[in-house]
Amino acid sequence: MSSVHQPQAFRVGSLDRRARSARAREIAELAPWFHNLDLDGVPTAPEHFLGDYPRQFFSLFAHVLPDDLHGWSVLDVGCNAGFFSFEMWRRGAAPVIGVDADPHYLAQARYAAGVLGAPVEFAPLSVYDIGQIGRRFDLVLFTGVLYHLRHPLLALDLVRRVVGRRLLFQTMMRGEETIAQVASDYPFAARDVFGAAGYPKLHFIEHRYAGDQTNWWVPNVACTEAMLRSAGFRILAHPDTEVYLCEPDGDAEPPDLPGAFMR
Ligand SMILES: C[S@@+](CC[C@H](N)C(=O)[O-])C[C@H]1O[C@@H](n2cnc3c(N)ncnc32)[C@H](O)[C@@H]1O
Repeated sequence: MSSVHQPQAFRVGSLDRRARSARAREIAELAPWFHNLDLDGVPTAPEHFLGDYPRQFFSLFAHVLPDDLHGWSVLDVGCNAGFFSFEMWRRGAAPVIGVDADPHYLAQARYAAGVLGAPVEFAPLSVYDIGQIGRRFDLVLFTGVLYHLRHPLLALDLVRRVVGRRLLFQTMMRGEETIAQVASDYPFAARDVFGAAGYPKLHFIEHRYAGDQTNWWVPNVACTEAMLRSAGFRILAHPDTEVYLCEPDGDAEPPDLPGAFMR
């Protein structure tokens, strides 16, 4: 028999009111969030400046990845709170490993994995150290990280060494959106070529961009594509302005790396 003092069940998502406020409190303790995850109906970053990020963004390119990832291993480099790792797990990938240099985001990712019951491993690792994992992955996600790095081409070369089948890549881009035809060589006296519209350019940020001092290098489109090719990738799809799906280019020479990175 129900008591008159029994609280009315009030549910949003799969939680009753008390569980929902406990969940909201735990999420607030882990703030600030960059990924807006849905944890049993409780959003982690509902006021995100990019909207429902990265869910809306992912919808622009989700179709270039296989719906069924059973049999695929995944490495998510710069995983943040794990949105993309969880999406790959939902598609059947295993193992899924997310690495990030920031313990704050890893704490969020681990908390979210617990709530979602997702067997995704999250590890504190910089992109410069991913060789330490000691294996390749069928799919590597490297989104939103390149422009945060002081050594972007080194990072891309290191990523190349752990990609087995596919790379999903995204970077912020600025500057010209045209792509110039660039010859494989020029005479020493050819100066104008560097100023030509659509020549590959990597813009250096000495101080801040968008208030963020971790933004270092922002390529234009031509530079992004040239860097991907130079690191040994073939571009398979360009589903959104900033997003590329690539595969290892079997014909490309492996990139040279400084001795400390040759393992
Ligand atoms: C803009 S967020 C992108 C997060 C996620 N990949 C996405 O696309 O939404 C950049 C992430 O890269 C991480 N990061 C920055 N430098 C890194 C490094 N050297 N190695 C690994 N992760 C790094 C940051 O901690 C942050 O989580």
